[in-house]
Amino acid sequence: MIILKLGGSVITRKDSEEPAIDRDNLERIASEIGNASPSSLMIVHGAGSFGHPFAGEYRIGLEIENEEDLRRRRFGFALTQNWVKKLNSNVCDALLAEGIPAVSMQPSAFIRAHAGRISHADISLIRSYLEEGMVPVVYGDVVLDSDRRLKFSVISGDQLINHFSLRLMPERVILGTDVDGVYTRNPKKHPDARLLDVIGSLDDLESLDGTLNTDVTGGMVGKIRELLLLAEKGVESEIINAAVPGNIERALLGEEVRGTRITGKH
Ligand code: IPE
Repeated sequence: MIILKLGGSVITRKDSEEPAIDRDNLERIASEIGNASPSSLMIVHGAGSFGHPFAGEYRIGLEIENEEDLRRRRFGFALTQNWVKKLNSNVCDALLAEGIPAVSMQPSAFIRAHAGRISHADISLIRSYLEEGMVPVVYGDVVLDSDRRLKFSVISGDQLINHFSLRLMPERVILGTDVDGVYTRNPKKHPDARLLDVIGSLDDLESLDGTLNTDVTGGMVGKIRELLLLAEKGVESEIINAAVPGNIERALLGEEVRGTRITGKH
């Protein structure tokens, strides 16, 4: 079984003012998944410009200040949930067009959180879809949070990867992002940035540039934190560049692709 993450920065145009799909990437990646056609696959995708701007504007996951703020948050929650659902529908359309039996699972409809971490998720249905040879698709979403100070929180694709990987114990976890892997600095701004082949602990991140830590779910550092927790439990993962044509297909086929492996130890 393979769990594949498609980052929001790959399948959407993250710098866009309005939610916008990166159709070239999405359709190409869907066709690569169709070509590789792994025998058992689950897909997790991020939100990109369909999620972060709304979750940020309505401060989902931060402490609620007063009754008026709460009313505003309720609307922001519903609005964010609706936008990420639209993205998911586009992702499933692209997968179905390649003959992939993608089954959408809306996280806000079956997951609860406490203080920003998943506290309840019924994975038996996902297991059954996998046994049926279907491809469950989940995505970064907003969920109800039992911490009364928050009431709502954002669950990132990376937290979903962590949660489901620990329970389904996939053979491989592949994370498709818009960079070749984890760099010492932001490679889009600094030409001297160095690619890390392997990350074994949070200490490896000390040298990392703080600007990598920017979006509502913690940017690259948040991502690695999730993956290290996973690696500690025995599930290693690899971060690769899904924007490079052929990478996702080759990775799914088990061929070597340039990237960073998160091992929990060297
Ligand atoms: C964020 O999901 C979900 C929302 C903002 C609602 P991710 O954190 O997984 O999205 P990307 O991959 O960074 O865009």
